[in-house]
Amino acid sequence: MKTRIGFLGGGRIARALAGGLIQGGKDSWVLAASTRTRESGEAFRKAVPEARLYPEERNRELVEQSDIVFLCVKPPEAPGVLRQVGAVTGGKWIVSVAAGLSLAKIASLVASSARIVRAMPNLPVRIGSGVIPYCLGPGWEDRNREEIRNLLGRFGEAIEIEEPLFPLATVLAGCGPAYYCAFLACMLRFAEESGLPAQEACGMLLATASGAIELLKQTDLDPAEVVAESRTPGGITHAALSVLEQEGWHEALRRALAAAWHRAKSLET
Ligand SMILES: NC(=O)c1ccc[n+]([C@@H]2O[C@H](COP(=O)([O-])OP(=O)(O)OC[C@H]3O[C@@H](n4cnc5c(N)ncnc54)[C@H](OP(=O)(O)O)[C@@H]3O)[C@@H](O)[C@H]2O)c1
Repeated sequence: MKTRIGFLGGGRIARALAGGLIQGGKDSWVLAASTRTRESGEAFRKAVPEARLYPEERNRELVEQSDIVFLCVKPPEAPGVLRQVGAVTGGKWIVSVAAGLSLAKIASLVASSARIVRAMPNLPVRIGSGVIPYCLGPGWEDRNREEIRNLLGRFGEAIEIEEPLFPLATVLAGCGPAYYCAFLACMLRFAEESGLPAQEACGMLLATASGAIELLKQTDLDPAEVVAESRTPGGITHAALSVLEQEGWHEALRRALAAAWHRAKSLET
């Protein structure tokens, strides 16, 4: 029997999650999403052509017709949406990916028999290569714990964590792909401006990035050791890293992460 999955909010992360489910086996799911505007609904349908779409006024109906509901609206909208659907959440699994929304807050807005998950996926969930830290609300039986772990495992690495670690997990895993891609985007631009055709530049840089990650995964080298292995004193890597160090990039990155952590903690409700 197919599992009915409903997305309250069909934006960026809902499309990524839906993509992850589909690539792991299209026939297992019936997917539906609700959105505020028609444009957002059409973007979801483009990503998931077979999906059923609901306008926000019919959020309740979406929940009634789903076994598992992913709450994928932005944090300020999340309490209002949960209030709107709360009465029909009995017995459902509610997986909230809204930043900052605590298990306690969710529990106060849904039926007591609903089973709640707080999760923080990142964009590679779209291809089953994401990271999805999560924690469970009260009332989960062992059998269902196993089932929810398997469901989240379809998106990549599902890692159960303590709820107080959520802001940090958000900074590192939720936002992480953007940091690496921002770095790559800058290198790509430099490569193209310096004369390497875009296609070659892209191939070379992606292979270099995945090679570096594989090296870390397959050996006992840590990142600092890989840097040291590449950095011959007076050599070319040394020239690049020396400029970054003179510019204070370690401190800049630490400040950036601290700012993100501060922002993530400020959203906790
Ligand atoms: N993007 C990420 O990488 C990421 C990662 C982890 C967690 N998250 C979390 O995921 C949530 C959504 O982020 P996002 O980046 O996907 O935002 P987004 O692209 O703006 O998507 C939000 C969606 O919610 C819809 N929506 C707004 N109000 C609604 C309502 N009352 N009923 C039903 N749908 C409604 C929006 O429709 P309209 O566009 O028509 O307004 C839109 O489709 C946030 O809480 C964020 O913390 C995001």
